[in-house]
Amino acid sequence: MAEHLHHHQERPLSALDAIFTRRSVRAYAPQVVDEATVRALLDAAVQAPTAMHAEPWAFVVVQDRAALERISDRAKGSWAKQADHFRDLHASVDATVARAFAERLASPDFCLFYDATTLIAIGARPLGPFVTADCWLAAENLMLAASALGLGTCCIGSAVPALNSTETKSELNIPPDVEIVAPIVVGVPRGPAAAVPRKDPAIVSWTRRA
Ligand SMILES: Cc1cc2nc3c(=O)[nH]c(=O)nc-3n(C[C@H](O)[C@H](O)[C@H](O)COP(=O)(O)O)c2cc1C
Repeated sequence: MAEHLHHHQERPLSALDAIFTRRSVRAYAPQVVDEATVRALLDAAVQAPTAMHAEPWAFVVVQDRAALERISDRAKGSWAKQADHFRDLHASVDATVARAFAERLASPDFCLFYDATTLIAIGARPLGPFVTADCWLAAENLMLAASALGLGTCCIGSAVPALNSTETKSELNIPPDVEIVAPIVVGVPRGPAAAVPRKDPAIVSWTRRA
């Protein structure tokens, strides 16, 4: 990975700096992430822990804006049909977020992948009960590695159903036994992303010996 660091960052961040500076990036510069960097990110992804050493992950890389727009339109179409359900889903968290999402879905110009030029979708082969856990661990590795290199990422959970549709699978040549779990857009951030504060960890139980 080392030889690609200088493209985006003078020096890679430490693991803790990468953890604390990673933010979901929703505005990207037009430059495309080069193949070596994509491969370096995948290499970081597969270092994640994997249950029973199954390594169930399979990666789909999309660097074609027209394809991303087609998948986005497919996703927007299916979400629009379930708009009420989706509003309820977000309503428990934040009504403003729910309304903003519904409005963006309705806008023909909105792309679910924002203006990112690269999508890396992590899929799972059916190799046991923990394959989705493995994929999410790989996803976080990938996002932290990107963050360490000065690249931005954003999980696009709302694209999961569209990526698993038969149309998308045949268009992108995704094998039928691969289920897309974690779609992540990657790119050079257009600017700094605002920190999203977290609540303090809720420790509901901590047992110590008396
Ligand atoms: C499983 C999952 C799905 C997500 N799906 C989307 C999405 O579809 N669109 C989006 O803009 N952000 C999506 N996000 C990003 C979250 O909104 C974001 O992580 C959260 O607001 C916290 O902000 P931060 O990542 O900048 O700390 C998703 C995150 C996760 C973990």
